[in-house]
Amino acid sequence: MIIDTHAHYDDKAFEEDRNEVLEGLASCGIHRVVNSGSSLEACKRTIELTEQYPFVYGSLGIHPCDTGDLTEDHMNWLARQSGLDKCVAIGEIGLDYYWDEPERQLQKKWFARQLRLAREVGLPVVIHSREAAQDTLDLMRAEHAERIGGVIHCYSYSRELARDFLDMGFYIGIGGVVTFKNGRKLKETVEYLPMDRILLETDSPYLSPMPNRGRRNDSRNLPSVVTEIARIKGITEDEVERITTENALRLYPRIRL
Ligand code: NI
Repeated sequence: MIIDTHAHYDDKAFEEDRNEVLEGLASCGIHRVVNSGSSLEACKRTIELTEQYPFVYGSLGIHPCDTGDLTEDHMNWLARQSGLDKCVAIGEIGLDYYWDEPERQLQKKWFARQLRLAREVGLPVVIHSREAAQDTLDLMRAEHAERIGGVIHCYSYSRELARDFLDMGFYIGIGGVVTFKNGRKLKETVEYLPMDRILLETDSPYLSPMPNRGRRNDSRNLPSVVTEIARIKGITEDEVERITTENALRLYPRIRL
């Protein structure tokens, strides 16, 4: 049994066949999905998906690239929605310096604000961090992320930096990139990570694993990621599935099997 801890089934890439894909997941061994909200609109659609499908859960938050127009009213709305039974985390939130907009000060402000929100409502966080490792760590330390907990989703930094996130009690989200031929850095990180801190994720519709790289991703591709982690760790695929499922349930106790 596999839990996809990070997907975007609200994305328009699934407009044509969303129901077909979601209903087909269980027969491929994917029994739970956490849909990750990234904008206000995506959060609303995430809540709808959790109402429509018993196996879909949600994380609710605003992605750094969508923080441009945020207000305190939005934070109050998020705080209220976070009480929903199937809301398992605040996210995805974070910093993305690959893009120039919104300006860094604004991204930092709303990252810190949403970390505080998570602490107030007692939920873990899903962190998106791209080309912003130092500021991410600094803000996490300033906001006592070690008391919040969560996952660094789609981890893209070095093995050495992973230590800093592990020390704060965080999990590391691993997806399709680990199967790429040029994914050596991530393979080294996986080799280093304790098995009980790894979460499986797709980031669908993005980042399809080999051999589907470049095509639309969905949770049915996760077995390729399981196979690669099993190879790197020298354990069986069953063990990878069992341990990563236990990890997801430990971080997200609101998920029911
Ligand atoms: Ni995402």
